[in-house]
Amino acid sequence: MSQRFPLPAARHPLAARFLDDAAAVGEAIERFGSPLHVVFPQVIAENAAALAGVLRRHGVPYEIFYAHKVNASAALLAETSAAGLGADVASAAELDRALTAGFAPDRIEATGPKSPAFIERIAELGVTANADDLWELDRLAAAAPAGSAVPVLLRLSGFASPAVPQSRFGIDLADADAALETVRRAPGLDLRGVAFHLDTADPAARVDALTESMAVVAAAHRKGLRPSVVDIGGGFRQRFVDDPEPFQSYSQALAAAAPGELVWPGHDPSVSHKYANHRPTTEVLERFLAAELERRPVAEVLRECMLTLWIEPGKALVDHAGVTLASVLYRKRAAGRDLVVLDLSRNQVTPADQEVLLDPVLVDGHGEPPAEGVFLAGRLCLESDLVSRRKVFLESEPSSGDVLAFVNTAAYQMDLSASFAGGHPPPPKIAAVLEGGRFAFVADDHHGS
Ligand SMILES: Cc1ncc(COP(=O)(O)O)c(C=O)c1O
Repeated sequence: MSQRFPLPAARHPLAARFLDDAAAVGEAIERFGSPLHVVFPQVIAENAAALAGVLRRHGVPYEIFYAHKVNASAALLAETSAAGLGADVASAAELDRALTAGFAPDRIEATGPKSPAFIERIAELGVTANADDLWELDRLAAAAPAGSAVPVLLRLSGFASPAVPQSRFGIDLADADAALETVRRAPGLDLRGVAFHLDTADPAARVDALTESMAVVAAAHRKGLRPSVVDIGGGFRQRFVDDPEPFQSYSQALAAAAPGELVWPGHDPSVSHKYANHRPTTEVLERFLAAELERRPVAEVLRECMLTLWIEPGKALVDHAGVTLASVLYRKRAAGRDLVVLDLSRNQVTPADQEVLLDPVLVDGHGEPPAEGVFLAGRLCLESDLVSRRKVFLESEPSSGDVLAFVNTAAYQMDLSASFAGGHPPPPKIAAVLEGGRFAFVADDHHGS
């Protein structure tokens, strides 16, 4: 047996229970087909409670807005509504889904770049507009009926601190004064607060962005505006593995391997996500609230300034809240390598073409692990459209008709890149709920974002 480099994924107990229940998996595939996305609403509720627990422990007034773009599932959205969260929507379609799921307009905020039609609906409903640009503010000011108070957050960027990653989104701090003036003069707008969203887990970056954002809050007060919210966006992590060590061994082996040995010829292994995190997803929030801002914990500063903290988690809320199932069609040998061919397309389980560095699990697999690693191939047409461009080391030998489960796919993996390419529709999505020791399944009619 040549050397093996398995990258085992952490499994939530509920997901593990489902994947260990071959009869439940078989029933899901038989009723809804393969490939199949399965979401677990009970897990998103648990994640929401964990994040809320951190905020409560720190005594911070807060609201949690679920960043719906992470997964188009109606079941997950409905669960966050039932849990009392708000919804962060990025389009008119997401806004409609949030309303259908039971969110009142005052529990919805709209983020990201917005079309004129979307802005009109935001103004009409009184949804909070998290403004991405001065252009949006002007449109919003024109659309908001005089005498109304359409809530507005200014999404800020262009922070001076080198710790804060640069962003193409938001209003540059140099334009913050002009933005405040636009809101001040608009009879139908109400400055609710300021916002940012950082794509990093670094607490120092968030503290620096908060410090610079507080200066805008102070400037707003000097203009007679009354902001009461600081929205720090999402960017809280996922917990992918129980143990980071296999990643270290794999990375070392990859660096030393001959081209084409551990990855498909021509594949650039640097294009992958950070899958080695084993710390709880709540830790990023915890560290931020406990970090020091002018020698006092952030939580204390927020309380003293009577600011409500808004967060917009996507991936931290859906962490472990879904798996993707695909049947094995056949095994073959090609290009001198072992392939497992699945009835799945790369873009149905791979976010933005970033290689997923977690091993799928063979449902009902038993026996010895295969001596060699295999590449996972699927249905799309480019030579590079493998489901896995790296060799994966499965725990047991797959054969035709077996089901392979991709673990922890609810964050962006199900919908972000899915398309109808090749006439293959995005896989159906179902919600699986554990009730009285059995899994009950319901079709989830929203798929494809
Ligand atoms: C404005 C905004 N808020 C929240 C999120 C959710 O981020 P995450 O899934 O990293 O929590 C995103 C993601 O793109 C975003 O753009």
